[in-house]
Amino acid sequence: MTMREQEVGVFDFVLLDEITLEKFMQNLQKRYQAGKIYTYIGEVAISVNPYRVMNIYGNDYINKYKNRELFENPPHIYAIADAAYRDLRQQNKDTCIVISGESGSGKTEASKIIMKYIAAVTNAHSQHDIERVKNVLIQSNTILETFGNAKTNRNDNSSRFGKYMDIEFDFKHEPVGGIITNFLLEKSRIVQQQEGERNFHCFYQLLRGASDAELKQYGLTRDPSNYHFTNQGSTETLSERNDYKTTQQAFKAFGFSSEEINTIWRTVAAILQLGNIEFGVQDDEIVIKNQNQLKTVSKLLCVTEAEASTALTQRVIAAHGDIMKKQHDKSQAEFGRDAFAKAIYERLFTWIVERINRAIEVPNKKLAKRFNRVIGVVDIYGFEIFEKNSLEQFCINYCNEKLQQLFIELVLKQEQEEYQREGIAWTNVEYFNNQIICDLVEAPHKGIIAIIDEACMTVGKINDEMLLEAMDKKLAHHKHYSSRQLKPMDKELKHKQDFRITHYAGDVAYSIIGFIEKNKDTLYQDFKRLLYHSNDKIISSMWPEGAQDITKITKRPLTAGTIFMKSMSDLVQTLLSKEPFYIRCIKPNDSKSSVLFDEVRVEHQVRYLGLLENVRVRRAGFVHRQRYDKFLLRYKMLSQYTWPNFKGPTDRDGVRVLLEEKRLLNDCKFGHTKIFIRSPRTLFQLERERNEMIPNIIIFLQKQVRGWIARQNYKKMKAAMTIMRVYRQLKLRSYIATLAQRFQHAKKMRDFGKSIQWPTPPIVGRRAEYHLKQMHGNWRAAMILKRYPRSEWPQLRLQIITATALKKRRKYWGQERKWLGNYLGMSTENSNYSSFNSSVNNIKNTEQYHHILFSSFVKKFNKCNKSADRSIIVTDTAIYKLDGAKNKFKNMKRSIAIREISSISISPGRDQLIVFHSHHNNDLIVNLQGEHTQLKDDRIGEIIGHVCKKYYDYTNRDLPVNVASTFSVNLGGKPRKISIEAVAGVENVGFKHAGQIIVFEVPSSYASSI
Ligand SMILES: Nc1ncnc2c1ncn2[C@@H]1O[C@H](COP(=O)(O)OP(=O)(O)OP(=O)(O)O)[C@@H](O)[C@H]1O
Ligand SMILES: [Mg+2]
Repeated sequence: MTMREQEVGVFDFVLLDEITLEKFMQNLQKRYQAGKIYTYIGEVAISVNPYRVMNIYGNDYINKYKNRELFENPPHIYAIADAAYRDLRQQNKDTCIVISGESGSGKTEASKIIMKYIAAVTNAHSQHDIERVKNVLIQSNTILETFGNAKTNRNDNSSRFGKYMDIEFDFKHEPVGGIITNFLLEKSRIVQQQEGERNFHCFYQLLRGASDAELKQYGLTRDPSNYHFTNQGSTETLSERNDYKTTQQAFKAFGFSSEEINTIWRTVAAILQLGNIEFGVQDDEIVIKNQNQLKTVSKLLCVTEAEASTALTQRVIAAHGDIMKKQHDKSQAEFGRDAFAKAIYERLFTWIVERINRAIEVPNKKLAKRFNRVIGVVDIYGFEIFEKNSLEQFCINYCNEKLQQLFIELVLKQEQEEYQREGIAWTNVEYFNNQIICDLVEAPHKGIIAIIDEACMTVGKINDEMLLEAMDKKLAHHKHYSSRQLKPMDKELKHKQDFRITHYAGDVAYSIIGFIEKNKDTLYQDFKRLLYHSNDKIISSMWPEGAQDITKITKRPLTAGTIFMKSMSDLVQTLLSKEPFYIRCIKPNDSKSSVLFDEVRVEHQVRYLGLLENVRVRRAGFVHRQRYDKFLLRYKMLSQYTWPNFKGPTDRDGVRVLLEEKRLLNDCKFGHTKIFIRSPRTLFQLERERNEMIPNIIIFLQKQVRGWIARQNYKKMKAAMTIMRVYRQLKLRSYIATLAQRFQHAKKMRDFGKSIQWPTPPIVGRRAEYHLKQMHGNWRAAMILKRYPRSEWPQLRLQIITATALKKRRKYWGQERKWLGNYLGMSTENSNYSSFNSSVNNIKNTEQYHHILFSSFVKKFNKCNKSADRSIIVTDTAIYKLDGAKNKFKNMKRSIAIREISSISISPGRDQLIVFHSHHNNDLIVNLQGEHTQLKDDRIGEIIGHVCKKYYDYTNRDLPVNVASTFSVNLGGKPRKISIEAVAGVENVGFKHAGQIIVFEVPSSYASSI
């Protein structure tokens, strides 16, 4: 949701269709009633006191306004504070925020809101001393309000002094210190309060908030009605019980020592007690009626009773070098007492402000380096009209005149300058310039202050009435001054007493009574000396003039009016050197109501604050202006030529293209750096179209961002993969390096590295390990084989197969001799070899095998328990049984296919018995033989090698070879057992059957000997 949619009325008065008081009031009221207490006039914020807690100052709001342009968010004091702080940062300018408005309109609250904002937006995680400064700036208000604010009929917490505070920033734009300047404390309130009003808060805080013990120490009772200085007006209880604690905490936060805190409260108590001193006359002598009271006061001020008594009842005059004592009369004594009370309080207040300043000042040695810029905040008592208005109101109202003057000067000047700078013609706007009233007050010789001063300086008796006459004479023709003398028909003004000034904010009748005295602000020297000699060092330090010799002629001190005028002039000078921001506060009603919008009261303020003129001046033909870059940034989505980026040479061209496309050119003027828009309609159109575009832009942005995130992820993934690849390579390399290192001498080892432990491969190297192990195996095999001639390799291979099958279960298997294979085809082995050859050729023709791998004479044992001499051949497909030589090796046609053999059984001994098991009914049980004799060598290994190899070739499985002295056989479908038994004395092997068991007898030398 955008700002305009939430708005009520117009957020800037400049955008009103018609600038009339009526429309202005309507907008203000409408907004106020909708809870929109802030509205702009350009860069000036109008604030209407809500008289209720608003939920618009939290951190969420602070963040919303941080670093934002005014127009980006609904109007708020935060926006003004941010603009001031931004100017300071970006333009390196001193800025100030001037808060004006009448009493109770919310100035002090606004100044606190500004402080809070600045404290919050400056570096949150900064160093200790910045934190300290920020806390202290905020805490300073607590103390200042305790001693400088009072309940008045207009405001329960009315500032009775003017305050200007500089917040000082270092070159990094962090707050590093501050300084508070106070103006004219309304000290008459100490001794006199109007009906319904109270004295300064501190008195009630002490009486109602301090402990019993503390009060006892000061000789006080809790009830303010017991004291003359607190019982004339209202004794209403506000929040002082808690406030007392808060004040004490603030003192501590500032590092006030306990002596200092004690002196402060003791002095406050002393003033209360002083107010209760009464004078009487006894034997023509002035006396203090209540001596006890005097005793208490003396104790509290740390002076002797005698000295205090003297100072209160007489004065010492030095004339022509002589010192004379003069007794007061009763009224002089009472005047002196009151003047004393006021002076004590004023000095205490000034001392407190100085003490606060000492705590927040930029440490001297660092000053040159660190201190850079300031934001000044002005919170000065508002314009006020009482039943009876005296010199204080005169000064306060004059002060408001000065600030109004400053406002006119700066705002107008700024506007005019801007138009000139931008090269746009300036339309003159009529407005009321209050310079004339300022002059009425401050002009040398002819101004009111000068006239009063003159009266005060006149030697001899001159009274207030004479002063009024003098003013009437000198100011008779002034448009803004009148009196009963000058206007006899004006019954509102009292004869010889009242004069009226037509202020910019309205007419105020002042009573001249007391003007001279207040302006002189007389305080008998005796009091100064008295307190200079106080035993309390702090009190003493507040009265340095008391040290002066009595006879020394002192220069006439400046009058109160002149001092005030000078301080105002200083303040104005200070403000003139800064970039100003304004908050103009309006009080909606006089009953502190959060709902009432008193049109008459508000309209009056709108008039005298010159707000309407302000709007006119601001508008001067144009409702809106904006720097080209910022304008383009805000509205560039409205034109295809400027979205997403304008390609032309300058932002100004971009703005032109955009406005041209929207056909709005006629309503705009091009300044040097800014675009000026004439009517609100144009601005609203731009805003409306912008709002319509925003959802699309958000989608577009989301798209972009998502794309960006995806690209980022992809890049990350790629990077991760590269890292992984390189990492794997590295791991693999280091694995290979370790391997190479371990195996570097493998070639020279007997086992060619078989015993070397392989390093654990990285995950990525597991496959490599498998292959490498194979390679190593092959290499090792090759290395071993290298020792043998190639012609022996087939036999070696067979021997390996046999060795693997036997698993060391039989010691002798012919491994040491040469394996010749087809023995029966050899003349040395078979005398009938040619008959054998022709027989196997026949077989070959019919049975289709390729080679004869092995052949041998055998003694065969059959299912009929007969053993017969036969022969076998092992070919690449099957084992054939042939008849013996007598029958010319005839094929018995009982072959066993090699793939059908299920296992082989042999004994562990030296005999040549071998059984081929199959799933057929008859296992083949044979003993390998020579032509007529037992074999001399062992051929069991050789036949096993051939059969196992072929079996593997066909089935890819190892043929199980069983090595035992007793094992089962199957003959004619019946399970039988063969037992190989060595029999002593037997020369030749032979089968014997004994029922189930077939005994294969062997000579004892054949016995198993593993
Ligand atoms: N923004 C605000 N939110 C809530 N309450 C406010 C706000 N501003 C002012 N008030 C109420 O109005 C009262 C008077 O305001 P404040 O003391 O700031 O007036 P002021 O202009 O400083 O008057 P004076 O000239 O008498 O010092 C406050 O005590 C508070 O109750
Ligand atoms: Mg105030």
